[in-house]
Amino acid sequence: MIILAVESSCDETSVAVVKDGKEVLSNVVNSQIDIHKKFGGVVPEIASRNHIINMTYVFKEAIKKANITHDDIDLVAVTHGPGLIGSLLVGINAASAYALSYDKPLIGIHHLKGHIYAANIDNDLKFPLIALLVSGGHTELIYMEDHGKYEILGETLDDAVGEAYDKVARMLDLGYPGGPIIDALAEKGKDTYNLTRPYLDKDEYMFSFSGIKSAVNNIIYHANRKGEEINKANLACSFQEAVIDVLIYKLKLAVKNYNVDNIVIAGGVAANKRLRQRVFKEIEGKNIIIPKMEYCTDNAAMIGAAAYYEYKKRGASKDYLIKGSSQLDL
Ligand code: KG4
Ligand code: ZN
Repeated sequence: MIILAVESSCDETSVAVVKDGKEVLSNVVNSQIDIHKKFGGVVPEIASRNHIINMTYVFKEAIKKANITHDDIDLVAVTHGPGLIGSLLVGINAASAYALSYDKPLIGIHHLKGHIYAANIDNDLKFPLIALLVSGGHTELIYMEDHGKYEILGETLDDAVGEAYDKVARMLDLGYPGGPIIDALAEKGKDTYNLTRPYLDKDEYMFSFSGIKSAVNNIIYHANRKGEEINKANLACSFQEAVIDVLIYKLKLAVKNYNVDNIVIAGGVAANKRLRQRVFKEIEGKNIIIPKMEYCTDNAAMIGAAAYYEYKKRGASKDYLIKGSSQLDL
């Protein structure tokens, strides 16, 4: 089955062609990072406008690179949430228009399911599994008994991990997006600031990252008042170690309590080098899948991968109205 997938929930305009949920024939990603950089974050209205500008070109490129014709496509899939509403609308309209024009069935895909199924592209998901989903908008621990069966065990009470990375980078004047910058800078520093590790003992699987963020803010504020220099590399390292301590602790707890052998770590923050390194070192004897870097951050291939299994479960529609809630199946 050949699926044409569209992703436009944030600031990446992406179209991919995926065969049988696994073989990526093309995955074109047009990132708007350079446009949003100067604002220190994604500006929703600007993101929507740029999706409109880029979408047709990205569509054509994806079909050309996959070396297929319109006739070869069996299903059109599109991220239908969660995300920036104006951005989502551009992708949904483009996918609907394409499906309507070429008389193809259409299926809406939850963005987070896409992130999880990114792990099924170069590997095979094995069940039951625990997925740690860490992105700019989400931090979730999910138990999956089988394909298409999701149970959210815990999530963040405030900031998502990626959001905390981006905000801390902004406080330190490091640029946007903060994740990859802090990742690289932290390598040069030491964990000297001894930041708080919130929610290690509370609410089991719930997360909270705004406390770590405020702690960084206080350190910068007091240093500025006293005219002291901040060691940015050490502060980046301390922030990163605190965050990863919490993520690994909660992940291990869920893996133990649910007695699973399989772990997936996905979402933009799963691209983090230190997280990848520590997870493999600190969690032994488990089958751990972290998608390739290019499938960690937002891309349409992961939506095509998820769509294959979602289609098998619930079919698709030709009425071009994307049904279903944007929640995971709870
Ligand atoms: O999954 P994603 O591309 O978009 C959302 O669905 O949110 O994730 C983007 C987030 C940003 O907050 C970015 O700073 C973070 O992922 N990120 C990283 C790294 N690369 C991207 N965070 C930590 N380390 C990285 N290497
Ligand atoms: Zn995402």
